[in-house]
Amino acid sequence: MVDRTDRHFRSLMRLITRHTLLYSEMVVARAILRGDHQRLLAFDPNERPLALQLAGDEPGALAEAARIAADYGYDEINLNVGCPSPRVQRGRFGACLMAEPQTVADCVAAMRAAVTLPVTVKHRIGIEGREQFADLAEFVEIVALAGCDRFVVHARIAVLGGLNPKQNRSVPPLRYDDVYALKRHFGDALFEINGGIATLDQAAVHLKRVDGVMIGRAAYDDPMLFAAADARFFGGAAGDGVDRIAVVEAMVPYVERWVAAGGQGYQVLRHMQGLFNGMPGARRWRRMLSVDGPRSEEPGRLLRAAIAERR
Ligand SMILES: Cc1cc2nc3c(=O)[nH]c(=O)nc-3n(C[C@H](O)[C@H](O)[C@H](O)COP(=O)(O)O)c2cc1C
Repeated sequence: MVDRTDRHFRSLMRLITRHTLLYSEMVVARAILRGDHQRLLAFDPNERPLALQLAGDEPGALAEAARIAADYGYDEINLNVGCPSPRVQRGRFGACLMAEPQTVADCVAAMRAAVTLPVTVKHRIGIEGREQFADLAEFVEIVALAGCDRFVVHARIAVLGGLNPKQNRSVPPLRYDDVYALKRHFGDALFEINGGIATLDQAAVHLKRVDGVMIGRAAYDDPMLFAAADARFFGGAAGDGVDRIAVVEAMVPYVERWVAAGGQGYQVLRHMQGLFNGMPGARRWRRMLSVDGPRSEEPGRLLRAAIAERR
């Protein structure tokens, strides 16, 4: 999620769930071609399995960006056809590409030819003016023929004129049935459902109808939501769930390494604020991280002190 998640949040998530597929925030393919690969693409190998999400509408640029990403060790390339932001629309990519299934298909085919990794597409169930199931099915059919390995479907249309990105994640109603209908219609293709899913129980219900579930905001707000995911969905033992203190303890050497390498401690700590949500003392934890975190020169020590206080 742009402006929210990054490699540090993914490292935190990886301590909570070993097997859930993680996605990068959207990275514009042309930005990768302009250089600064390290800033845009570097990640900790522990984050894998990890999909890189690209944005763009030029098959050649996307193919080249996918090739560079494959060398970095990503496990999957995902194309963003769901973002409604005006900036992205000016670039003619994101959700507005739902009106151009053949362009998306050409992009998928070019990336498929460039890398051996799975190439997937994240999209909406429609955009204003193309919001019937027949439009959606046409989009999926054309993109599937180009070799798309999985469809990640945000079960809302995007309104590209009147709503801002935040409203576009809440105002258009969720239509899960459209995603289920896709699965029935294209039985051989893989579909991952997204939008408004906030518990593993809800995920389990969707998994009876589709192949995967993507959770965005709820994962950020309450990362420990995923503590039981490995046991529940990936064949782990019931006792495999991690506890919060163990997660914080594991983040101590992580943040210390990051600071030793020249990074800012708060770049890591800021993602840990939701870790105790729903627990006694959650507010105090958040305050400690948000007030003391930004000015702390020894973030590892801050975390240790916070743990000691909770014991
Ligand atoms: C701050 C923010 C940034 C987002 N950035 C991206 C992004 O980079 N790529 C993407 O595919 N979706 C992005 N999304 C949308 C989410 O991935 C997801 O589709 C949407 O929030 C609905 O799912 P949820 O209810 O589980 O959050 C973003 C959402 C938020 C709140």
